Amino acid sequence: MPAEWPLLPTNQETADPRFLQQIFVRDQMAEWAKHPLIIERADDIFYWDVSGKRYLDALSGIYTVSVGHNNRRVIDAIRRQLDTLHFSPPMHGTNPVAVQLANLLAQLAPGDLATVKFECGGSEVTEAAIKLARQYHRLCGQAGKFKIISRYQAWHGSTMGSLAASGLKSRKTVNEPLPAGFLHVFPPTCYRCPFGKNYPDCSLTCATLIDDVIDMEDPATVAAIIVEPIGHTGGVIDPPPEYLPILREICTRHGILLIFDEIITGVGRTGQMFAAETFGVVPDVLCTGKGLSGGYAPLSAMICRKPIADVFWGPIAENPGFVEGHTFEGNPISCAAGLAVLREIIERDLCANARQQGDRLRRHFERLRDTYPVIGDCRGKGLFQALEFVADRATKTRFPANPGLGVLVGRRALENGLLCRFDPHWVAFGPPLISTAEQIDEMVALLERSLLEALESMN
Ligand SMILES: Cc1ncc(COP(=O)(O)O)c(C=O)c1O
Repeated sequence: MPAEWPLLPTNQETADPRFLQQIFVRDQMAEWAKHPLIIERADDIFYWDVSGKRYLDALSGIYTVSVGHNNRRVIDAIRRQLDTLHFSPPMHGTNPVAVQLANLLAQLAPGDLATVKFECGGSEVTEAAIKLARQYHRLCGQAGKFKIISRYQAWHGSTMGSLAASGLKSRKTVNEPLPAGFLHVFPPTCYRCPFGKNYPDCSLTCATLIDDVIDMEDPATVAAIIVEPIGHTGGVIDPPPEYLPILREICTRHGILLIFDEIITGVGRTGQMFAAETFGVVPDVLCTGKGLSGGYAPLSAMICRKPIADVFWGPIAENPGFVEGHTFEGNPISCAAGLAVLREIIERDLCANARQQGDRLRRHFERLRDTYPVIGDCRGKGLFQALEFVADRATKTRFPANPGLGVLVGRRALENGLLCRFDPHWVAFGPPLISTAEQIDEMVALLERSLLEALESMN
């Protein structure tokens, strides 16, 4: 330890290459360090970096800042909670705000989704749902039901179990071997049907085939199916309306738990409190995170149906309860943030705003698709929508992936002061639920400008 408190870099100096080498970021670091984005402050739906440049946040940070930056109600609630209780002993019990938030979530979630487990992030909570499914079957005398079915191109998180359920080779291969007992099926990517079919004449092969997979594996060995109602990392995979009801029926028939990963789609993003309502399907377990605390504190929640939770309430000699937990679960500060965020969403009817601005965004995206032949498809629901790029609309051939038009557009967007999600072949918007019509228009104008500049740079 130095004898005196060492001098730290000023905010502006943190962009200096010497200091960047001292931190791991999520991006490819050598590439990122060429134009490091270091955010210093935020307000409403804007960020400012350490050089003072402003960014319009069309991504809610990463689908998280649901009620905007610098939201006074949430900040005041956190301040009050800090003055009362900032941490309660998780091995010995819980705290009033955690119970209140669980109660509110139980009221807001559809059907009999009524018992909540809090965690700190999406990976922890999808992993908890997987553990819950396995322990549930064990408690029901069916310990052989352990396999988890999920989808290629899915993202359920970075911990080993949630990663095993994920379906992205770009993030999995370097970590293999992953835990056993996970298998994958193809997602409902209608624009590029893996079975070469066209909706609605396809008989929903992507869904019905899962029944055959379960049959081949033996239903007595399958614990759960986990899906994002709208898949993100494959480019916002919005399933046809029949898809999730078919999965529900298959799971019920085979005694398999249906888990919805609503880390992104939950808490208003698709225009209803949960995408489960948007699609009219009640899962057995619903995981939510990101927007639940609006990014003000780490928080995620797993909500499970009452009959499933009841199984964990047996006498101590036969039943250990749910064997899962983390130090920061149900943290009072996080739960106070969650309560305040939900109050904002409900009292300001931000689900209705997500529907209204989502419709506006869709009209803009359709206009872009109709104007630019390089846009093959637009899809998504509410304030969660994407554009897919193609080099040839008729054949749906993609641009070369290195870097891909999506990356060129996304990088131009950052230059132009717009934050959106980009991938070699698509870009996505997930703006805060408080976004106004004017702000949506400005986001799309910046995106269009970035697209034109990216196309220009390819010539
Ligand atoms: C659908 C989905 N599930 C799970 C996760 C993992 O969440 P976290 O990064 O909070 O661990 C993410 C993160 O992006 C996600 O998008």
